[in-house]
Amino acid sequence: MRVVILPSARAAAEAVARFVAESIRTSPSLVLGLPTGRTPIPFYRSLVALHRRGRVDFRRVRTFNLDEFAGIPADHPGSYHAYMRRHLLDHVNLRPSHVRILDGMARPWRREVAQFEIDLDAAGGLDLALLGIGRNGHLGFNEPAGALAAATHRVKLSAASRKANADLFGGRWRDVPTHALSMGIGTLLGARTVILLASGADKARIVARAFTGPVTTQVPASLLQVHPNAVAVLDRAAAARLP
Ligand code: PGA
Repeated sequence: MRVVILPSARAAAEAVARFVAESIRTSPSLVLGLPTGRTPIPFYRSLVALHRRGRVDFRRVRTFNLDEFAGIPADHPGSYHAYMRRHLLDHVNLRPSHVRILDGMARPWRREVAQFEIDLDAAGGLDLALLGIGRNGHLGFNEPAGALAAATHRVKLSAASRKANADLFGGRWRDVPTHALSMGIGTLLGARTVILLASGADKARIVARAFTGPVTTQVPASLLQVHPNAVAVLDRAAAARLP
């Protein structure tokens, strides 16, 4: 696990956006794993700016999102589909058929999560997965637990994760769906390269625990310590508790 510390959240976001743009220039049909949440917003803003300046062309890129809420449709403003349209898809030339986001309304959900793995395999697997880290150490919606599902699956959200997403639902965490569909931990760790982006003082404790503590399913992000090609890109505040 490599750790890169930059002076600000903005500098971290810009560095990751430049790395992604460079990766796409080198491999125009790159397969990307994409996160949602507050942390990646400046990253998407930087990536869109690079696209506007002609520095990155998404025409052949494929994307797979990490997760989506269960039980709300893609056009619900709180959905991660809506988030992705707002922050990336409405602004770049990704082909709609190259964008795969789990369908939270799919019935039966078991078929949807299995199909997601089939679609990812057909694309050749993830070349580069971009991740955030939850304050509880989750990756995607792989929540801390005694055991984790390797493949894409349905998950019951912790109260902590529902509260962390309250902003998307008018600040009312009880309106946040109780379940989600998420890439499995094995799906994520199968990415050839993983970049975890974390910023802000409220992530300092979990960052230190995940990257310098024991590898445990109780801190899903700690599993990145055994990934052969994982990098954490942090601002100074998120890195403050690292030795
Ligand atoms: P955040 O979410 O960027 O909103 O803190 C990160 C995550 O839960 O993975």
